[in-house]
Amino acid sequence: MDKPVTLGFVGCGNMGQMAHIANYAEIPGIRLKALVDVKQEQARKVAARHGIEKVYGSVAEIAADPEIDGVVCIMFWGLQEEPAIQLLRGGKHVIVEKPLAGNAAAGQRMVEAARQAGKHLVCGYMKCHDAGMQWARQRIVQRGRINQAHLFFTGGDWWANLGKPITTSEEAPQGWGTEHWMPPGLSPAQQRAFSFFINIYSHHLGIFRFLLGSELKFQSIHPEDPCETVLFSAGEAQVVLMRTRMACDWWEEKVRVVFDDGYLDVAPPPPMARNLSARVDEYRKGQEGQTSTLTQGIAGWSWAFKRQAEHFAEVCSGRAEPLVPGEHAWRDLLLMEEMARTYPAD
Ligand SMILES: NC(=O)c1ccc[n+]([C@@H]2O[C@H](COP(=O)([O-])OP(=O)(O)OC[C@H]3O[C@@H](n4cnc5c(N)ncnc54)[C@H](O)[C@@H]3O)[C@@H](O)[C@H]2O)c1
Repeated sequence: MDKPVTLGFVGCGNMGQMAHIANYAEIPGIRLKALVDVKQEQARKVAARHGIEKVYGSVAEIAADPEIDGVVCIMFWGLQEEPAIQLLRGGKHVIVEKPLAGNAAAGQRMVEAARQAGKHLVCGYMKCHDAGMQWARQRIVQRGRINQAHLFFTGGDWWANLGKPITTSEEAPQGWGTEHWMPPGLSPAQQRAFSFFINIYSHHLGIFRFLLGSELKFQSIHPEDPCETVLFSAGEAQVVLMRTRMACDWWEEKVRVVFDDGYLDVAPPPPMARNLSARVDEYRKGQEGQTSTLTQGIAGWSWAFKRQAEHFAEVCSGRAEPLVPGEHAWRDLLLMEEMARTYPAD
């Protein structure tokens, strides 16, 4: 029998518990060896709930544990550079949440640490692991030339009634509301815009790269506070990212990829909705008197976060390459810094 993939965890806040540890605990063939959080009481309770063997007192102990193959390091983006680099230098594969870091320079240091260690650094763009999204990518490859892609985002109920994580009243490092992680030289308005971009648009830049199979080039940004339209190009295709204000009972996020003979629509589900995958509608104009078709792809019950966890276990066992390597997410940070610097300064 294969040796189980042995994992460590750093950070067991909302996402660490609900989107990551809970999924790894359900995957056969994985040993949950150790957990660290500065909130030690919370870590003990979470470890007991999910069957994690040990609670260590520091990231250094996880980095030094020779049995641990990979670490799921989930914390606020401005805090994760140092622990991620320590873990990579300790010889662990590492997955972090999106965005990769709070600025491109920090992201580059993380990517460089992974390269030097010969380990994988993975960024948690879980939407690229969504079963519907992956089906859409297969269809796009078969459809040929892409004329345009646009993504409309307004968001909505992202938690989808998932339940409550374990919490304690222990102190933790501050994330939101501090600016120490910001790229230098941004005005307060640009800082606000940048925070939003790296929190939300990091997913969208990842979706475009995944679906279109090419890198985006930034062209221009058209703000209308608190919303904006951003224009990019990807090869010959025009790419548009639109955000607007809209009351919504559900989760509104939809990509349309346009070809000469029709389009493909992909609508990711609310991020925390277990067992839902992206809905895909494919329209193809009939040729020379043939009937046009509108096909709906239903990928079945699955959750992008669970599929991401399964894939990271494969990466740790050497059976798969990362779908979203840190380097991609670093390039996205560069792009979003460019967007923020072009955003009106006041
Ligand atoms: N993929 C998505 O759709 C999605 C959705 C929401 C949030 N996120 C990302 O997840 C990140 C984490 O969000 P969260 O709600 O879990 O945050 P959180 O604050 O609830 O949890 C972070 C945990 O990390 C711990 N921590 C901080 N520094 C530490 C250190 N050096 N060593 C050990 N533990 C440390 C904190 O004590 C806390 O328990 C967010 O910053 C965001 O980028 C992603």
